Amino acid sequence: MPDGALPADLDLRARMALELPGGLVEHIDRVVALADTLARHHGLEVPLARLMAQGHDLVRHVPPADLLARAEARGLPIDPVERDAPLLLHGPIGALELRERFGVTDARVFDAIWHHTWGHPDYTPEAWAMFIADKVEPHKVRRWKALRRVHRLALDVSLEAAALLYLDLRLKEAVREGHTVHPLATLTRNYLLRARAEA
Ligand SMILES: [Fe+2]
Ligand SMILES: [Fe+2]
Repeated sequence: MPDGALPADLDLRARMALELPGGLVEHIDRVVALADTLARHHGLEVPLARLMAQGHDLVRHVPPADLLARAEARGLPIDPVERDAPLLLHGPIGALELRERFGVTDARVFDAIWHHTWGHPDYTPEAWAMFIADKVEPHKVRRWKALRRVHRLALDVSLEAAALLYLDLRLKEAVREGHTVHPLATLTRNYLLRARAEA
């Protein structure tokens, strides 16, 4: 593959299916399909959004203690919230392993996957399409009906408006349940709030 070229998401799917559990492959398939729809709807780069979606959960099945060990072995900075819930590290570790083991070198894909749990103020529109698709794929909406509004906003208003509602819902849930909030959830939400105010 020439440097900088995007591999087809179907090639990546075939290689990932060899090591991922079936249920996770099905989740990823639903996210790819929805990211495709959202990217098309908003006139974005569809192959880029599909590739971000295809790669996003490469290590989602890895046990939390193993994710923590991989992060420590690489010397990654680990937030206390991540130390308490190492599953949150599957974004960064997935981005790194996708580059190292699967040769996906595009920086936009790397950043999108690294931050796919909370989004990021520097996200590209395609990254937002992948992010929303991951949060509102049909199985997740069935489990948490409030996500239906997030999906609607993504179609009727904007991907960023949908992301803001999603983070609001997660924040309210954290307050209700007495859970900690990851700093990036707050940073991203602040960015989205300010962007909305300036629009
Ligand atoms: Fe994930
Ligand atoms: Fe996912």
